[in-house]
Amino acid sequence: MITEKIKKQTPTEYEIHPLVKERWSPRAFSSKIITDTDIHQLLEAGRWAPSSNNLQPWRIIWGLEGTETYNRIFDCLVEFNQGWAKGAPALMLGAIKKDMKDGKENFHALHDLGLFMGNVLTQAQSMNIALHQMAGIDYEKAAKEFGFPDNYHVATATAIGYYGGNPASLPSDLQEQETKEKRERKSQNEFAFNGNFKK
Ligand SMILES: Cc1cc2nc3c(=O)[nH]c(=O)nc-3n(C[C@H](O)[C@H](O)[C@H](O)COP(=O)(O)O)c2cc1C
Repeated sequence: MITEKIKKQTPTEYEIHPLVKERWSPRAFSSKIITDTDIHQLLEAGRWAPSSNNLQPWRIIWGLEGTETYNRIFDCLVEFNQGWAKGAPALMLGAIKKDMKDGKENFHALHDLGLFMGNVLTQAQSMNIALHQMAGIDYEKAAKEFGFPDNYHVATATAIGYYGGNPASLPSDLQEQETKEKRERKSQNEFAFNGNFKK
């Protein structure tokens, strides 16, 4: 069922691009299918993200609803996330290669996976596709399930689908959050300092 896209208020302190301003993380998605090409377009945007030493430490597992890979990713989500993500048209796991070529730890790998996902988010937004990222996964199970060696860490999962889902399809406790009008953030002066760090 395709319902009207929920638009959230994003009370910005300064003007920002609509692709950033209008993004939010739904838990209910439109029933419009996500195609292989959609996924490859998103991954292509991620591919061109910057990374420390151009090491590109991100590794992605993805699957479309109705496939075995999708079900295997789904089985790695914690129960809470399974509760709402079961209708998502696509699921993805984001992993990092933890070390560099010389075997030393790549301290920037998670940072770079974040940049990859930032590109994916913005590309998705331009296609009216929404992402909902999840830390709530059994990362050890996921690494084993998909055959990652020990020097990799499965960090997150992501549910992917078009905006326009029906909030009524969600467990009742999540419906209120889905339809909440306003997005919230810390004020800039709580996290950015033109000088010394302040608590
Ligand atoms: C790395 C990461 C992990 C997250 N983990 C979860 C999760 O396990 N379950 C969930 O429902 N939402 C999860 N979220 C979604 C956040 O709660 C959401 O992005 C945040 O509340 C801001 O909302 P917005 O994206 O709509 O602006 C996660 C987001 C990120 C970036």
